[in-house]
Amino acid sequence: MFHNLASRAIFSLSAPSFLHLLRALRLHLNYHTLMIRRRTFLASSLAAVFSCGSYSALLEPHELRVESVRARIGRLPGALDGFRVVGLSDFHLYPFTQMSFLKRAIATASALSPDLVVLLGDFVDSTVEAIEELAPALAGLKSRCGVFAVLGNHDHLKGAGFVVKTLRRHGIQVLVNESVLVPVGRSGLVVAGTDSLTGRFNMSEALQACRPEVPTLLLAHEPDVADAVASDGRVALQLSGHSHGGQVRFAGLERLLLPAGGRKYPYGTYEVGGLTLHTSRGLGTTGLPLRLGSLPEVTEVILTPRI
Ligand SMILES: [Fe+2]
Repeated sequence: MFHNLASRAIFSLSAPSFLHLLRALRLHLNYHTLMIRRRTFLASSLAAVFSCGSYSALLEPHELRVESVRARIGRLPGALDGFRVVGLSDFHLYPFTQMSFLKRAIATASALSPDLVVLLGDFVDSTVEAIEELAPALAGLKSRCGVFAVLGNHDHLKGAGFVVKTLRRHGIQVLVNESVLVPVGRSGLVVAGTDSLTGRFNMSEALQACRPEVPTLLLAHEPDVADAVASDGRVALQLSGHSHGGQVRFAGLERLLLPAGGRKYPYGTYEVGGLTLHTSRGLGTTGLPLRLGSLPEVTEVILTPRI
């Protein structure tokens, strides 16, 4: 019945009206196809954003990558050839980074059989009391020549004195503009540590135990002090953290997220004059509970003679 009526209506149209009808029908179909494509595009984009968001919030902050670096040191004593320094940085315990993840990082560090373990600051984030939970776990780190630490800017913001006291109570040697000679075989390594730039950074005080016959390893939370350290000329190797590698490396966002003191040398290994610098991406997150393109890092540095 409907088809009969429709055919009669179409046949009763003049030729120009019929063409007009066809054009209108084609336009309608094109519009419909466009709307479907637009909806599909929006749905795929939303799915991509959601997957990316889930990955950066749920997966990447819990991944761990061991970064193994060979640091070539001039006039390296034979006793230090192959000496293994393992570094952990930027714990930021609570609210975003949990103890279970940090315990996994600590176990990974111990499993690397380090000669020396270094902790590069930012132990706490929102409350200083978190150090009371973190310090006993750090005390369990296995290291042949001890565990040394420096403070980060976040430790200063929440209570540097309490962080230092609690770490020391658990046997961790905190270096605040100090240095010590660590004996290794018939030689040794000077381990120096500066305070954070947020505290009372003093490189001259930190390097007082330096001596020409043994290499110096400097721990400094902010990597960008490397220019001043390289100019001084007494340090062979600097280990730092602070930048989190930008934390979210996507669409240039990292440029906005990199903190002062961590913008020039944000992650990885650099040669700055005669100084080797390694900047760790750290473990935790701050500001945003996200990591993207910047996996949490356990650093392993193996000392090798520079030929
Ligand atoms: Fe940090």
